[in-house]
Amino acid sequence: MEAKRIAAEKAADYIQDGMIVGLGTGSTAYWAIRKLGELVNNGLAITAVATSVQSQSLAEELGIRIIPFSAVQAIDLTIDGADEVDRDWNLIKGGGGALLREKIVAASSKRLLIVVDESKIVSRLGQFRLPVEIVPFGHELTVRKLGALGCDPKPRMVDHNRYVTDNGNNIVDCNFGMIERPGELHNAINAIPGVVDNGLFIGMTDKVIVGYRDGSVQELRK
Ligand code: 5RP
Repeated sequence: MEAKRIAAEKAADYIQDGMIVGLGTGSTAYWAIRKLGELVNNGLAITAVATSVQSQSLAEELGIRIIPFSAVQAIDLTIDGADEVDRDWNLIKGGGGALLREKIVAASSKRLLIVVDESKIVSRLGQFRLPVEIVPFGHELTVRKLGALGCDPKPRMVDHNRYVTDNGNNIVDCNFGMIERPGELHNAINAIPGVVDNGLFIGMTDKVIVGYRDGSVQELRK
C-alpha cells in the first residue's frame, strides 16, 4: 500500500492550475485522487473527468470538481494505475473492472501517466489474466470465441452473479500465457462481435512512476 501511495502522490507533481485531469480507478489511483483533493483544498484549480463511478464519488467527496466527459475537448493529463507494465510501457488494465472508461479517457488525454508499485513491472505481459469487457447479449457465445483465441476464459463473478461494469456489461478474465504480440492480440479480441474492449493498452503510456517497498520512487526511462 505504501509503495502505491508514494508513486501516486509523486504523480501530483505534474498537475498544474487550469488543467483538466483524468482520474483513474483502483487502489493506486485512489491515492492520487486523495492527493489531488488535498491540493485542491489548498488552492489548486483543476477540473476532472473520472474513469468510474467509484473514482467520481471519491473525487466529489474530496472537493474536486468533476465535469461531464461531453464537456471536454481534451484531457491534459490522466493519472491511472495498471495491473502490468512491460518494457515498452504497454499495459494490462481492468483488474478493477474500469478498463473501458479508462481507455476512452486515456485515448482523449494529451498524456497518460501510469502509477504502480514495483510488483506490476514485467518483462512481458500475460501473467495477469487479461480482462475483456463483453456485452451481456450472447455472453456464452462470446466467451467461447475468446477461448478459441487460445485462453481459458473465466467470466468474472461477484456473489455467484456476473460482475457488471459501470457500463452495464460483463468482464471475462482471460489467461493467454505470455503475450508475444500484444498489438495483434488486442485487435483479434476486439474483432469478436460482443466484445466491447479489452485491457491491453498499447502505445498509450507517456510516463511510468514506480513506488518501491523500501520507500523510494522512480520515474522509468525506456
Ligand atoms: C482498474 C484498473 C486498475 O488501474 C488496475 O486494476 C490496477 O489496480 P490497483 O491500483 O488497485 O492495483 O485497471 O480497471
